[in-house]
This record gives sequence, C-alpha cells and structure tokens, in this order.
Amino acid sequence: MAEIIKADASPEKRLFISLITRDISLVAAFLDLIDNSINAAVEPVSDKLETAEDYQRALQDEATKPTVDIFLKLDKDRVEIKDTAPGISAKVAAEHVFKFGRASGSGHESDRLSVYGIGLKRAIFKLGNKIVIRSDHIEGGFDLDLDVAKWAKDAQQPWTFLITPRQPAKAEDCGTTIEVTELYDDTRRRLADGVFFGQLRESISKTYAFYLSKFVKIYVNEIRIEGFDIKIGSNHASEIFAVDDVTCAVTAGIGEPQAGSFRDKSSGWFVFCNGRAVISADKTPLTGWAGGGLPIFQPKHRPFLGTVFFVSRDAERLPWTTTKSSINEDSAVWQEAKRYMATIGRVVISFLDSRYNDEGTELASLDLQTAAGERVSVISAAVSQKRMFELPKQSAPESMRIQYDAKVSDVKRVEEYLRRPGMGGAEVGRHTFHYFLRNEVGE
Ligand SMILES: Nc1ncnc2c1ncn2[C@@H]1O[C@H](COP(=O)(O)OP(=O)(O)O)[C@@H](O)[C@H]1O
Ligand SMILES: [Mg+2]
Repeated sequence: MAEIIKADASPEKRLFISLITRDISLVAAFLDLIDNSINAAVEPVSDKLETAEDYQRALQDEATKPTVDIFLKLDKDRVEIKDTAPGISAKVAAEHVFKFGRASGSGHESDRLSVYGIGLKRAIFKLGNKIVIRSDHIEGGFDLDLDVAKWAKDAQQPWTFLITPRQPAKAEDCGTTIEVTELYDDTRRRLADGVFFGQLRESISKTYAFYLSKFVKIYVNEIRIEGFDIKIGSNHASEIFAVDDVTCAVTAGIGEPQAGSFRDKSSGWFVFCNGRAVISADKTPLTGWAGGGLPIFQPKHRPFLGTVFFVSRDAERLPWTTTKSSINEDSAVWQEAKRYMATIGRVVISFLDSRYNDEGTELASLDLQTAAGERVSVISAAVSQKRMFELPKQSAPESMRIQYDAKVSDVKRVEEYLRRPGMGGAEVGRHTFHYFLRNEVGE
C-alpha cells in the first residue's frame, strides 16, 4: 500500500488579506467597526433584545438612554475609532477576537451585531498597514501593535498576533481604541475627498437609526450623528412570522412628504437585521420590484414605504451577507419575507395606482394625507403587531368626462360663427356647453 503524505493546503497570508478586503467598501468597513462597538454596548442588556417585541419595548422605554459613546476621527493620514463600551479582556482577545471566522459552538448568545468573526480584521486590513489597539476591561485588557506587511511575510503556523495584557481598569475607564496609520493609497484618496465624509455620515445615520435613538451616541470628527428618523403613516399593514429562530415583521404604508414632496431616499423597502439597517430605500428586484411580486417602481409609488425587521438571538441565522451591506437572497427566511412583502406591498401600491386615472392625471379626491393617517416612527411601526392597511373611502369625483362625436363641418361652422378658426373640437365642446349652462340653466 502506498504511503500517505500530507500535501500543503495552508493559506497564504497575502492572498488571504487581499481576498477578504476586496469585496467590502470603505464605508462598510467603518460600519463593521461601529457594529462591534454597538455589540459591546448592548451586550449587558442583550437579554432584553431577543425578539421583535423586545426591540419595540426598548424604543418605548423612557428609562433606556444612550450609555456608550463611539468616536470616529478620520483624516487622510490616520483613522481612529474609540468607544466607551466595556472593552475586551486579554483572555477574550487571546482566544476569540483575532480568530478569522467564528469557531462553531463558541456560544456567543449575547452578540447582536457580531456574526461571522471577520469584521474587525477585515476592516483594519482594508484601511492601512499599522494597527494599534488598546482595550481596557475590568478583568484587564490588552495592547496590540501590528505591522501588517511584516506579519504577512512571517510564514509561521498557526497565525498569531502578539498582545500585551493590561492592568484591570475601573468600569468607567473601560473601552477600546483602534488606530490605523500608514493608510493605503485607496483609503487615503477617499479620506482626502470631502464627499466621503458625507457618505459615511449618511450611512451611519441610516444604518443605526434604531441604536442611535436609545443605546449609543456616535461622533464623526466631533460632529454628533443623529439617527435617520423616517416616518410612516399609522395606517399601515403589518404581518409577523417566524422561521426557525428568526422572527420577522413586515410593514408597508405611506411615508411622510418633505417640503411637500415624497423623497426618493425615504421611499421603497428598508430591511433591518437585529435593529441594524442592511438595505435602505430599495426599489430594485432584490426586494421584489419589477418581477418579484411587485410592479416596476414608478414616480407615483414614491409615497410607498415598507420595512422588514428580522430579529434573532443567533445573528448568524439572519439573512445578511458577511459585509452586512446586502441580503443573502437564498436564505429561507428572506424568501418567506419576500412573499409577505409582495402581498402586503401590493395593497399599498394598488391604492397608490388608483390615485391616477388612465391618462395619468392625479385624482385629488384620494388624498394621501388622510389615507396615511398620523405619522409614526418607522422603527416603531417596523416592529408593530399584525394589522391591515385601511383603504380610504373614495369620495364622489368632482368632475367627469363628456365625449361625443360631431360632424367636422358643424364644428367648423361654430368656429366660423365665433370667428375663431382652428379652435378645435374640445374647445368648441367646452364653449357650447358653457353657453348652454349660462344661458339656459343659469349659473
Ligand atoms: N470595540 C470592541 N469592544 C468589544 N468587543 C469587540 C470590539 N471590537 C471587536 N470586538 C469583538 O471581537 C470579536 C471579533 O470581531 P469581528 O472580527 O468584528 O467579528 P464578529 O463578526 O464576531 O463581530 C467579536 O466578538 C467582537 O464582538
Ligand atoms: Mg464584528
């Protein structure tokens, strides 16, 4: 019998780094770091965030106040993210934090936004070469000083980072600071560009609207970011269902106009996983538009606002991708959600369609304000109970169309009589109608 020999299948660090950082955007990398800080911030109260109703209760509970601050400081040479969450102990850092991927059965039931065990490493590798992490924890935190290029050259197995334990800290001094310098050219270029800051602020505001209202404060270069507070009419439809350990609430209704018109950025579907927005204002086939049970999105649908709110104690069961910037479309719970989205969404969409006649003219009798009802926060609506969208009663139309055929020669005779050649059939009709109304019926 031939001797069995081991063929080398060990990963090459350089390839590995390039693979994991390729598919994540810079904004998403920052969000991954914020996810970790928020995850740590809510960890002490994670038993109060297990079901959709818990999220609802947390929103309504006056006693729930932000306890943790997250500060991002960015310029073209340096990135720093600092939080005042409970920190990371040296033990947890040594065993868990720097592992690429979550070990099965590692039992992190209290994690809400920590999922795949990759975000932190991917984000720092994306940003730059020199990484300094300092964490203070009541059981003693750690320091890490990492030169990624040097680390990548070292072929030693297994892969390790060298950390230095720190003394136990007082609870009020705990927290984690991550600093990245020697930024890569791509990062530096984006950070030198003013547009990027606007994008980042807007993403933070949308992604963490739920957490910003109750649990954390986030600052980017000292400017506090407010949650993107979209409102939905209290007349909305909601359905709740569960697949395995995931509960899901789907809601559809009418949004709130800004300065008289419905804005693109607050229309479409908003999908949340454990309170974190994964996609916002989606009007594409991903959420069922144009072929997945809903029509092609048109301007007349702009008042449409729908939310899908997934909650699970086991964050890995939620249908988000590893970058948390999109949906894993093959997930069973997502497929089930899409069925509900199509059924509920269609009720609101056909109402919006019915506001226009065949010529595309808006029918004022179907007033949107009345149909929508009083506006409520979209996040609280997102986790509400099952209910139906009440179709507003249609008041009798104020006008109707009169159409009839007339001989061309007769129309011409009227035009000539009025000395207005080329006046046309419609105008002749209106003129004669009003003449009759005025002179025979009396106004
Ligand atoms: N600022 C932080 N405070 C506390 N824990 C953190 C912090 N940053 C990362 N961690 C923890 O380190 C672990 C690894 O993080 P990460 O690579 O992002 O993977 P995960 O997908 O599990 O979040 C996670 O358990 C995460 O919660
Ligand atoms: Mg993470």
